[in-house]
Amino acid sequence: VGTNANSSKPFELKKLKPIGDQKGKLVVLEGLVDVPFEIRRLFYIYQNGPDVFRGRHANRRSQFAFICISGSCKIKLVLSLGQTVTVHLTVREQILLIRNMVWKEMYDFSSDCVLLVVSDCIYDESEYIRSIDEYFKLIGELC
Ligand code: TYD
Repeated sequence: VGTNANSSKPFELKKLKPIGDQKGKLVVLEGLVDVPFEIRRLFYIYQNGPDVFRGRHANRRSQFAFICISGSCKIKLVLSLGQTVTVHLTVREQILLIRNMVWKEMYDFSSDCVLLVVSDCIYDESEYIRSIDEYFKLIGELC
């Protein structure tokens, strides 16, 4: 899967280049450089049980970038009724870019998983679509 910042593709998995020296490693995320949007929100999720599902929503406006800065987890993306993609984030230099209007489910968290999320929008519950039926209706799929 490959695309560029202004692509209409729903997601992109990219590799970040750590700055490494004798002290260790450092990864930088700059808005409009490493992520294709201005960064307006950052949150991280952790201490999720092994059987927990998070997400299970799509966003009308928000775009996201996901980085597993510790441990690992899986992210299932539902792109249409018959099209899903599962990404296993296991490396902290991997960044998963997700456009708006993509259904996402995060699961299979390792006990040490810290999933960092950055977004271009401030939190607004009214732009969250939390029903998969409503999501399919909005993207024009029959349920
Ligand atoms: P939720 O979106 O359900 O989390 P997840 O998709 O990871 O399962 O959010 C959990 C709670 O946190 C919910 O009450 C909304 C709140 N919340 C905020 O207040 N601001 C935020 O930026 C986010 C992501 C969640």
